[in-house]
Amino acid sequence: MCADTRELAERAADLAVQAIQGAVRARGVARVALSGGTTPLDTYARLAAAPAELAHVRWFWVDERAVPPDHPRSNHAAVRRALLGPARVPAERVFRIRGEAPPAEAARSYAELLAHEFGLARVEPELDDAGRCAVRFDLIVAGLGADGHTASLFPGSGSVSRRDQTVIAVDPGPELEPRVSLARPVLISALRTLLLCAGLPKRAALAAARTPGDEETVPARLFLAAERGSVSWIVDRAAAG
Ligand code: 6PG
Repeated sequence: MCADTRELAERAADLAVQAIQGAVRARGVARVALSGGTTPLDTYARLAAAPAELAHVRWFWVDERAVPPDHPRSNHAAVRRALLGPARVPAERVFRIRGEAPPAEAARSYAELLAHEFGLARVEPELDDAGRCAVRFDLIVAGLGADGHTASLFPGSGSVSRRDQTVIAVDPGPELEPRVSLARPVLISALRTLLLCAGLPKRAALAAARTPGDEETVPARLFLAAERGSVSWIVDRAAAG
């Protein structure tokens, strides 16, 4: 557990660099998928301060909101401001979800892009007995909503049950814009996942997410199905209780 959000960002950035270095040593490249939201922004800023470690990273997104790439609510824009811009990452290593396109179309084209990136003949995932697939990011940085959502898989939207695609369009309800999100098979297949969670309002969701049960009610429970030892919850005292 981290004393505060500063320690959380330090720890998350250290673990992210370790995962990146391990992937680069093993395969010459690290494929990293990042989330939006506010919690990871300090972590991203810390990563940007170590640009040498990022030379072989190919950057992807866990999810995107249906807004243009320069919109204040764009996850791409947030990562660009905190990390990609300051670290001067060249455009050819950045693979954003097209938030400006109709979500179903953006989901399909991102699924095609991922199939190509991971050298797969089929765009649809082929699941193993554990429900995992061959789209295996070296690192995923994910978050948790106070309602138990992760990525853009929201409670009651039916999205966490989708296993037929690697990337899906999600309707999160009337309060939020539509989303495009990595689907469960991809989220549980990463070699390393860092789940960042801070603040008192997340306490109940965090406890629920770490307790087996219905994923439709608490989608972040899906990480309980990831490979043992691959997921690190990085939480502050306020969230942990
Ligand atoms: C998004 C995210 C989302 C986020 C959580 C936590 O686009 O909103 O990818 O899943 O990680 O909502 O967000 P906060 O860090 O802002 O609490």
